[in-house]
Amino acid sequence: MSDALFRIADESDLSEIARIHASCFDHGWDEGVLRDFLKTPGTLAFATSGGFILLRVAADEAEILTLAVAPHARRKGAGGALVSGAAARAHALGAQRMFLEVATSNAAARALYGQFGFAEVGLRKGYYGEDDALILRANLPIAPLGNREASTTVAAEPRGSDRDAD
Ligand SMILES: CC(C)(COP(=O)(O)OP(=O)(O)OC[C@H]1O[C@@H](n2cnc3c(N)ncnc32)[C@H](O)[C@@H]1OP(=O)(O)O)[C@@H](O)C(=O)NCCC(=O)NCCS
Repeated sequence: MSDALFRIADESDLSEIARIHASCFDHGWDEGVLRDFLKTPGTLAFATSGGFILLRVAADEAEILTLAVAPHARRKGAGGALVSGAAARAHALGAQRMFLEVATSNAAARALYGQFGFAEVGLRKGYYGEDDALILRANLPIAPLGNREASTTVAAEPRGSDRDAD
C-alpha cells in the first residue's frame, strides 16, 4: 500500500481527522481530544484520504481506539487498509493481540472486522447507551483481507479493563 493511501497522521492532520470523526459519530472528537490521544505514549494514528484509525499499543496488546471513514469515501477499501496497516504496525511494535469495541448494531464495522478474523470475546451491556458493545479480539498478525481461512484463532477470554473506544 502506498504512503499516499496510508501514512502516520500528525498534528497537521488534526482538523481533517476531527472532521472525519464528526461525520461518522454523533459525538465527534474535536482536535483537542485527538491531540491529547496522540500525546499519550503508545498512541498513534494513520490516515488515508477520507479516513483514519487511532490505536494504542502497550506491551503485547494493541487496541483500536477509533476507526472512521467519511461517508463519501466508504466501500472503496479504506477501512480495510487502515485496519490491516494498523495491525501490521502494532505487530511490528510487539503486540500479539488486538482488541476493539464495536456497537452490536454496527453491521458495517462488524463485517469489516470479521473479514480480518476478529472474534467476540466479551459484551459490555449499555456501553453505548441503548446499544451494547462487543469486545472483539484478533491475534496478530491478522489475516489479509480476502484470506479468512488464514485468520488467527482467538481464545475466548475477555480482557479486564474498561476503556473509551468507539
Ligand atoms: C466501518 C467503516 C470504517 C468501513 O469503512 P470502509 O472504508 O467502507 O470499509 P471497506 O471499503 O474497507 O470495506 C471492507 C469490508 O467491510 C464490510 N463493510 C463495509 N461497509 C459495509 C456496510 N455498509 N455493510 C456491510 N458490510 C460492510 C464489507 O465486508 C467490506 O468488504 P466488501 O466491500 O468487499 O463487501 C465505515 O463504514 C465507517 O467509518 N463507519 C462509521 C464509523 C464506524 O462505525 N467505525 C467503526 C467503529 S468500531
